[in-house]
Amino acid sequence: MNSLSKPVQKPKNPNFSSGPCSKRPGYDISKLKIDTLGRSHRSAIGKAALAKVCDDTAAILGLPEGYRVGVVPASDTGAVEMALWSLLGERGVDVLAWESFGKGWITDILGQLKLNNVGTFEADYGQLPNLSKANFENDIVFTWNGTTSGVKVPNGDWIPDNRAGLTICDATSAVFAMELPWEKLDVITFSWQKVLGGEGAHGMLILSPRAVDRLESYVPTWPLPKIFRMTKNGKLIEGIFKGATINTPSMLCVADYLDALDWVRAIGGVSASIKKSQNNLSVIEQFVSVTDWIEFLPASAEIRSNTSICLTLKATPEQVKEIVNLLAEEKVAFDIGAYRDAPAGLRIWGGATVESTDIEALLPWLEWAYHNIVK
Ligand SMILES: Cc1ncc(COP(=O)(O)O)c(C=O)c1O
Repeated sequence: MNSLSKPVQKPKNPNFSSGPCSKRPGYDISKLKIDTLGRSHRSAIGKAALAKVCDDTAAILGLPEGYRVGVVPASDTGAVEMALWSLLGERGVDVLAWESFGKGWITDILGQLKLNNVGTFEADYGQLPNLSKANFENDIVFTWNGTTSGVKVPNGDWIPDNRAGLTICDATSAVFAMELPWEKLDVITFSWQKVLGGEGAHGMLILSPRAVDRLESYVPTWPLPKIFRMTKNGKLIEGIFKGATINTPSMLCVADYLDALDWVRAIGGVSASIKKSQNNLSVIEQFVSVTDWIEFLPASAEIRSNTSICLTLKATPEQVKEIVNLLAEEKVAFDIGAYRDAPAGLRIWGGATVESTDIEALLPWLEWAYHNIVK
């Protein structure tokens, strides 16, 4: 029998999923501005809401002059694939991958686009490939934060300012939670359902002026479906980046995202949302440092994610599953099992919408559950 007594205080919010992620503190669906619902997304009011999504995202993130922000179909996957299909093939490509999603982009590039001048740089769960091996004469495809292994790139210092190729960065579990060196990134993608706890459905595609030049000067040899097409007669369709979406978006999801952006502004902007996430990691780091049965999946602190916080336990995969189930049964933590392709363990979301007080409240339960199952 477990010698530890059952903790009393539960997290106020037990939602620690890595996507869709927890709604922000104080979220109230009845407070969303829903005057756009039931109206055309091309009406003045609909278009204004969509343009506000683009403009406010650029302003809050502090994007450099000339960067475009567009709302595109199919969440982060849609945004990444739109970029891969539209931009690649003009030159060689180096793909850096260290977990499930990055490896998925390799499958797209080799298996579907069937490009042949491709370098792949892979690492196992918990590690990063050698970033200095990337050849910046080529286009570079990588994930800023590998959501399923909890490994992020430490910074953008390895990306030269005078690169010839484009950098295409899947940053879905990083934007609003990690410092991103925008000038070093030519394509940045994310979705609303991650750090700000928005809804799935739409992706955000951010393009540097160099990415726009590529779109306007290069036509891929393969066919592009309508939902990937960003140019007309060799010119960027600027409307896509001013709220004139390619096809019909969910205006309810738009209202939800605008509410999330208002919240970021209210807490002090992106530096505050980054800080909240870093604090969440600190709370877990403190716990791991004094607990002998738990470790971070990434051993190196420099590359440790502050959003998708991945942990391994001294336990069998079956015991880990039992711990995860027990915590869910107790309504203490939902959805904290490691991703299906990752090593058995825990993945606790520490993005900006998760309160550090809730992580603090979770940890004694984790201790209790571990000793309950593993003895
Ligand atoms: C790094 C990364 N890329 C892509 C995706 C796919 O995102 P979506 O389901 O929003 O398309 C995810 C989802 O968790 C992710 O973590």
